[in-house]
Amino acid sequence: MPKSLNAIAQKLMTPGQGILAADESEGTIGKRFDKINLPNTLELRRDYREMLFGATQAMQKYISGVILTEETLKQEAASGTPFRAILADADVIPGIKVDRGAFPMPGEAGEKITEGLDGLRQRLASYAELGAGFAKWRAVITINDIAPTRNNIRANAHSLARYAMLCQEAGIVPIVEPEVVGDGEPGNHSMERCAQVTGDVLENVFKELRLAGVDLAGMLLKPNMVLPGLNSRERPSVDEVARRTVAVLKEHVPAAVPGIAFLSGGQTDEEATAHLSAMNQISGKPWPLTFSYGRALQNVALRAWAGRRENFSIAREAFAHRAHMNSLAALGEWSNGVDRAA
Ligand code: 13P
Repeated sequence: MPKSLNAIAQKLMTPGQGILAADESEGTIGKRFDKINLPNTLELRRDYREMLFGATQAMQKYISGVILTEETLKQEAASGTPFRAILADADVIPGIKVDRGAFPMPGEAGEKITEGLDGLRQRLASYAELGAGFAKWRAVITINDIAPTRNNIRANAHSLARYAMLCQEAGIVPIVEPEVVGDGEPGNHSMERCAQVTGDVLENVFKELRLAGVDLAGMLLKPNMVLPGLNSRERPSVDEVARRTVAVLKEHVPAAVPGIAFLSGGQTDEEATAHLSAMNQISGKPWPLTFSYGRALQNVALRAWAGRRENFSIAREAFAHRAHMNSLAALGEWSNGVDRAA
């Protein structure tokens, strides 16, 4: 693994590669398993991650880093090989989700604040020893009639900055993830409102990062795309989403940031791919754009696996296909036709 923070960030942004977010907490992976009628056991969580990380060719070609949970960072495949070693063999950097989740913020606005700063310095030191090259902290920004409040934006931005500073001190690249969620309640906001809130949030996040003395060249940003809420009737075109998202980012994200890796946030698999590809066709951006998808990379593979080791190979094929499509999108070379034909 490269040594300097900037070198790790650059490697994560290798052209044609992106990040697999496989850091679902025990509760979140439980919800995913529930949908396919599987119990949430340690063994099934292990098998599921083993299926993904063992997709060797796809991992080598299309994936630069994987975000893990603490359980998975310390876990072994059924053969006894640590997942860390499997990833290292594929030249994939292991990362770690270090926040402890988003909890209700006091007040009337139904907002959330992310917890996990207490003891983080010690935890980061132990993750660095286990080989983690980067970390992730997700802040959740809610949109409704009264949210987001100024207080919530500031509190989340401040926590992101404290987290990022601690990561850099430990030699770990922080992925700074302020997610303006599209699937919240009521989730019917307009694209315009998402653009305005996303810009406001990014402005505050970078203000706090600068105040904290975070080295912008040694971090990555993981934002949402500019989209209407998932329950809105607005249906912008792919090009419109791409144009609005790039415009907001250009206005608020300093050029010193070495890369931007998007979350998928409840988009369909193909939407997430199409939007990324369209953004990469827009010229004049100061940073490379790639994916750091959870659901949009895993949905099909999860269903193909269905909890059975004998399905590993078809599930890996499904994962490889999505990873390949998103790799093309990271190069601005994806098309509908390629997706269906491949
Ligand atoms: P989704 O791509 O499923 O939104 O997950 C990405 C992620 O890491 C959210 O924190």
